[in-house]
Formats: sequence, C-alpha cells, structure tokens
Amino acid sequence: MNKELFGADFKWGVSTAAFQIEGGCDAEGKGPSIWDIFSNIKGKIKDGHHANTACDFYNIYERDLDLVQSLHIPNFRFSIAWSRIMPTGLKPVNQKGLDYYDRVIDGCLERGIEPWPTLYHWDLPHALELKGGWTNRDVVNWFSDFTEVCAKQYGDRIKHWMVMNEPMVFTGAGYFLGLHAPGRTGLKNFFPAIHHAVLSMAEGGRVLRKLCPQAEIGTTFSCSHVEPYSQRAWDKSAANRADILFNRLFIEPILGLGYPDKELSLLKGIRKYMLPGDEDKMSFDFDFIGIQTYTREVIRFSLLTPYLHAKLVKAENRDVPLTSMKWEVYPEGIYPIIKKYDAYPQIKKIYITENGSAFPDAVVQGHVDDQERLAYLETSIEQVLKAKNEGCKVEGYFVWTLTDNFEWAEGYHPRFGLVHVDFDTQERIIKSSGKWYADFIKP
Ligand code: GAL
Repeated sequence: MNKELFGADFKWGVSTAAFQIEGGCDAEGKGPSIWDIFSNIKGKIKDGHHANTACDFYNIYERDLDLVQSLHIPNFRFSIAWSRIMPTGLKPVNQKGLDYYDRVIDGCLERGIEPWPTLYHWDLPHALELKGGWTNRDVVNWFSDFTEVCAKQYGDRIKHWMVMNEPMVFTGAGYFLGLHAPGRTGLKNFFPAIHHAVLSMAEGGRVLRKLCPQAEIGTTFSCSHVEPYSQRAWDKSAANRADILFNRLFIEPILGLGYPDKELSLLKGIRKYMLPGDEDKMSFDFDFIGIQTYTREVIRFSLLTPYLHAKLVKAENRDVPLTSMKWEVYPEGIYPIIKKYDAYPQIKKIYITENGSAFPDAVVQGHVDDQERLAYLETSIEQVLKAKNEGCKVEGYFVWTLTDNFEWAEGYHPRFGLVHVDFDTQERIIKSSGKWYADFIKP
C-alpha cells in the first residue's frame, strides 16, 4: 500500500478539538463553556482530571503546528471555542478570542498546512446552558450568529468548514445519559436537543454557504458498524434499532429523509418539538459528510432496556482485544461503515474526519514504540483504500489525533495521539505511529 493509490487529491490530515487541547480556560476574556463547568465538578471526570491547561495549545500552538509540518500532514482540523469568541455565547464578541484563531489559521497557512475548522465540538458557552442550552430552540439563532461571526472573520482564508462534531454524542452523552457536559438526563432533554442540533447544523450550513460561497462545507457524524449478537430474528431487529440510533438518526434528516421514526417509533417523541416548516429547515446540501468511527458494536435483544429493547454486548465480555477505551480493536469496521454511508445517493463526498485508537503507551529511553496503534492505523487505511477501489466516494482520511489530550469523562488516561505528551512538562515525543504516518503521507 502507498498513498499514491489514493490519488493526488485525497486529503490526508489530523484532527483535534479546542477543549481537549487548548487549556487557557479563562485566558484573555474567554467565558466558561459547559465543559469548563462540568469537568470541574467533583466525580464527573476520572481521577478529578480537568482541562484547565490540557496540552496548553492556547499558548504553544506554534510548536504543535511545527510538529504537524514536520510530520508532513497537509490538513489540520481544529475547533473554534465559541466562548472564546463570544464569552456569553451572544454578542458582543471578544476581540482577543477572535485574534487567537486568526493566529492559528495564519500559523497553518505560513507552514503550508490547510486549516479545517469545526464550529462546534461540544463546548457550548455556559451562559447559554443557563438559558436551556440545546433544549432551547433559540439555540438555532445563537448558533447561527456565532457561525456568521466566524464566517466573516475567517472566511477569506478557510476553504473547508465543518459545522458540527458528532451531534449524537453530545446530545446522547450530554443530554440523555448525563455522562458528558452539561450532565442532563432523560428523553425530555434528549429529544429537544436532537431536534435543535439538527436545525442548527442545517442552518450553520446555510450561513456558511451564503457568506463563503467558494468554500467546501461539511459536518461530521459518529458512526459504528453494528452487528447482531446472533442470527436470531430478535437479535437482528435489536441490532437494526441500535443502528438507527447510532448511524441514521442525524444524517437522515440532514439529507432530507426526515427522522427515521417509522422504523423506531420511540423517536416519534421528537415530533413534539417540531414546528410547521421544520422538515425543510432540517436539511442542507452539504458538500461533504465527515464520518468518524473507532470500533464496531455487537447488539442483542434485551427486554429490560427501556424503549429500545436492545443492549450492547460489551467488548470486555466478548473475548476480543481492547483499546484503553475498552472498545474492541476492530479497524476493519471502517469498511462496512463507509459502504453504508456511500449508499446514500444524497451524500456527495465522504471524508473520514476521525479514526484512531488509544493504548497505554510507555516512554522507554525517550521513545514511544506504539506498534498497536500503528497497526490499527495501517489496517484502517487499507480498508479505506478497499472501499475507494470499489468506487466509494471517500476522498480523505484524518487521524484522531495529533497529541495525547483530554479525553472527556476519561480525563488524560486514554492516549490517542500520534505524539506523546507529558502533561507535567508539556514535552512532546513523536510516537512510532506518528513517524509511520509521516513517512506514509510524505510528498
Ligand atoms: C470522538 C470525539 C473526539 C474524541 C474521540 C475519541 O467521539 O469527536 O473528541 O474524543 O471521539 O474518543
């Protein structure tokens, strides 16, 4: 395998997110986000970790961009922290926050790196959460105003935008399970959050299209290949219900297909939050869809699981190799998931905007020889090639992630980076996987 087989236009990149790397939690006028609040509440994050400093990317971004350049990575995905730019989520803007992303973007361009910003990677301004956050329909207007500010400020230099990161995860973990910020639970929070995230995603696309007509505009979704635990009919229909929830709930309304609630009647609860005309407002013709996948899920029927009657068969109970996230090591799963999304004729182009794995790396005499991660990435990339060779419209691959960072509720334990970070000294060590990726994609 070599990168030439993917064609000269294939986009190779690396992905990051503001809250996980920046630190600078209150620097230069930044307001708190829901993650600043949540991660400083006792018991929410493993071992009391927080991201007040994280990888200190806020201060040492130039060093990390030098690393991106030295690894020959031509495309850098990062996110813009809403509360840095608008501390309360609303106008007025904080000029110093705006200036910061100007420097990050210019820092990329000076190094020959293409900047790929994501507008929303989970860090809602806390002041907006106090008004109801994603459960308040006004969030569509708040998000639209934030998008407009970013488009006007950075649009002259940005060729590729991503509106949102994984709405299923921030609504599901944040507003249904309470495991992520803001820590709310129940369908009464989940359903409105889903609908307002869908409307905001589409609206964000429209604002960008109007203000940046030349740019390529996309948005990203979490997805996992789902398999039934057995070939029995009840396991297969349970797997189908989980598939709807994990893989179809957000993409289908965006593509103009509406919510998949005919096959999963539980989702009819979303209708309560819909107003006349919403069906049209829910869709947008994105130039690309970013898919982000890490493992597969095995599902079996369960009478005890309310609403869904399906449950995950944990990888720990399946006698399979595990990552530090306790996810099955299954890079092959990227192939069927590309096929699944490729089958939607409405999707014009697919980029893999995140894929990677966490393992307990060891620093030995200044080196991190992470052969498991290296093998995971190599197999994943082979599977992408297989799908591409079969005619799938997959045109890019971004590794999650550049440096080890703050992995949400898991704190700093899982290490996903191509580059190792010592969180006491902020020292970086390029891992074997990073060297391999650099060598693979070098011009
Ligand atoms: C994604 C998320 C990233 C990162 C990754 C690894 O769901 O977008 O922020 O944490 O998973 O868990």
